[in-house]
Amino acid sequence: MNAPLNSSVTQRLASADGTDLSLVLDGRVLAEDFPILAQAVRKRRLAYLDNGATTQKPQVVIDALSQFYTHSNANIHRGVHWLSQHSTDLYEQARTQVQRLLNAPDSQDIIYVRGTTEAINLVAQTWGQSIQAGDEILVTGMEHHSNIVPWQLLCARTGATLRHARITDTGELDIADFKAQLNSRTRLVGIAHVSNALGTINPVANLVRLAHEAGALALVDGAQAVAHGSVDVQALDCDFYAFSGHKIYGPTGIGALYVRASILKDLPPWQGGGDMIHTVSFEGSTWATGPQRFEAGTPHIAGAVGLGAAIQYVMDIGLDTIAAHESALLARATEAMQEIEGVRLIGTAAHKAGILSFLVDGIHPHDLGTILDTDGVAIRAGHHCAMPLMSHFGIPGTARASFALYNNLQDVDALVAGVRKAQKLFGV
Ligand code: ALA
Repeated sequence: MNAPLNSSVTQRLASADGTDLSLVLDGRVLAEDFPILAQAVRKRRLAYLDNGATTQKPQVVIDALSQFYTHSNANIHRGVHWLSQHSTDLYEQARTQVQRLLNAPDSQDIIYVRGTTEAINLVAQTWGQSIQAGDEILVTGMEHHSNIVPWQLLCARTGATLRHARITDTGELDIADFKAQLNSRTRLVGIAHVSNALGTINPVANLVRLAHEAGALALVDGAQAVAHGSVDVQALDCDFYAFSGHKIYGPTGIGALYVRASILKDLPPWQGGGDMIHTVSFEGSTWATGPQRFEAGTPHIAGAVGLGAAIQYVMDIGLDTIAAHESALLARATEAMQEIEGVRLIGTAAHKAGILSFLVDGIHPHDLGTILDTDGVAIRAGHHCAMPLMSHFGIPGTARASFALYNNLQDVDALVAGVRKAQKLFGV
């Protein structure tokens, strides 16, 4: 997903009058791959529109987890027996799948983590050991708390300063302000590839270039990006790229961090224990090379295998195709919501992924979410772990619908009907 995300496809679909845009993919057919979506919720058809929080799992991922525990379970990197070698192979094959997903140069550039949050904390606690008083970290005003708080903790430990670049009223990064805040003290910039609260797709390659010109490294939070368009860390030229498996149809508790090889080779370890060492003695220890140095203890082996299956699943469909499908759904939903009097969209950037944040006059987002839930429509309501962004807009939170490959026009219709119903109930 180089910024802007598949912009040619996005723009073409968004402007194609009268076309049934959702036919880019048949969400109804793909939904059959996801057993949970066949479940009635509150005796209604489930319209699952909380994919920004977590995605549902296709049968191939559920099967991969079950098959692993049925046939392949053993600890990795330790055993001489067949099962251990088999399990190690599966774990490492999944690492290669992550490499393919991100177009990283080498699978050894990929560190398994619990998710995006842990990935960013890893960078703050390892690379962050080089930070000193007077240094600066620059993030954008639309970051998730996970790309703010680890830097605040680092700054509190070191005396460094955390800065943020302002965003515009449409929810785009103010590039002039970003440039103005970059200076010779900036050591790293942290950028959401896609804003979880607004859907804005940031021009990451451009921002990375600006960071490098200022002598800073660039970390990209890809949590809301990897499942929704193709990502190429080499084209982005970023130094770190983090994502969570559960937001790309994989299991919870597993994710990945790409680190540029020339940086990874010198990064100090963060958690000590088994599997991350080369030698241990009471006089001192030496560390494993490569990603293993950051994977102390028994990792989430089954999770990695499940993530590998999820990546294969989305790559078989095609990330560009998925992006086009979700873009069409977003265009349709945006148009329908704009037609409803009293609805205010929060985040109207020119380049957006499939996230629609909105407010309805006279109805608190939590009440709206509760009413939609009675009709089987699952959305998220609140600050979306982006409180500084909500403060920027002067609001406590929003209602948020977020799309995935299995959504279709019926889901959009259910959302719109639910909003109209809530307005009737509240008499607004
Ligand atoms: N970070 C997730 C979201 O945006 C939980 O909903």
